[in-house]
Amino acid sequence: MSKFTTASFLESKRSGKKISMLTAYDYTTAKLLDEAGVDSILVGDSLGMVMLGYENTLQVTMADMLHHTKAVARGTKNALVIADMPFLSYHVSIEKTIENAGRLIQEANAQAVKLEGGAEIIDRVEALVKAQIPVVGHLGLTPQSVNMLGGFKVQGKSHQQAKKIIEDARRLQEAGAFAIVLECIPEGLAKLISSELEIPTIGIGAGRYCDGQVLVIQDMLGQYNNFTPKFVKKYADLGPQIKKAVEDYKDEIQKGDFPEERHTFSIDESVLKKLY
Ligand code: KIV
Repeated sequence: MSKFTTASFLESKRSGKKISMLTAYDYTTAKLLDEAGVDSILVGDSLGMVMLGYENTLQVTMADMLHHTKAVARGTKNALVIADMPFLSYHVSIEKTIENAGRLIQEANAQAVKLEGGAEIIDRVEALVKAQIPVVGHLGLTPQSVNMLGGFKVQGKSHQQAKKIIEDARRLQEAGAFAIVLECIPEGLAKLISSELEIPTIGIGAGRYCDGQVLVIQDMLGQYNNFTPKFVKKYADLGPQIKKAVEDYKDEIQKGDFPEERHTFSIDESVLKKLY
């Protein structure tokens, strides 16, 4: 299997091949996803919720993103690794934005970064692209704006909101983004944007007509049960399986059924005798 690159995103759009993306935050999971042939791995700041137990993504830091992106990059050969820029890491200045994105590429080995927002961050997207850092946009429900949006709600239902999302998507494309994540917007709106843009759209809760799809790995494997959004499909239900395995383990330890002889290491009797 060959390396999936930013160019592969554009080729996929042109040829009509749908792009598969999943989140991962650690080496072992990234290696499994890569071996399974997923096109792209997103080290999302959703790690704040599913890995670190925060209520939302606002407390995730650059240090968190660097730590998890390094682990994912070590486990990935072919998928394109995209790292989320966390809250406030691209809001202070263009210089700080390039410095932070540069660290995700240079120190943590991501191949692209993702930023939330449209018109209000266009100068930073342009600056990153000029600095040769590939950028993925993110529109619709942008979780870092949860306090401004008043909660995790579907976006783009009104004419005004929908027009702004379409305009933001155009501007991100013009600024040089090579793909845009569309989160929690009506299917019809995502279809319109996907048909207008030359760069691919990656949907999460944005319906069937995006050029690719992304899900949070813990959601699609059934491991995170605090809240399951409508758009999630569970491809496995590992939560109950993990709990059952741990219960069996505890039970066998208590009964003396684990470990068995086949799990032990032997020592020569003569060596052992001398120790008594
Ligand atoms: O942080 C994340 O996992 C994301 C996806 C939901 C697209 O941004």
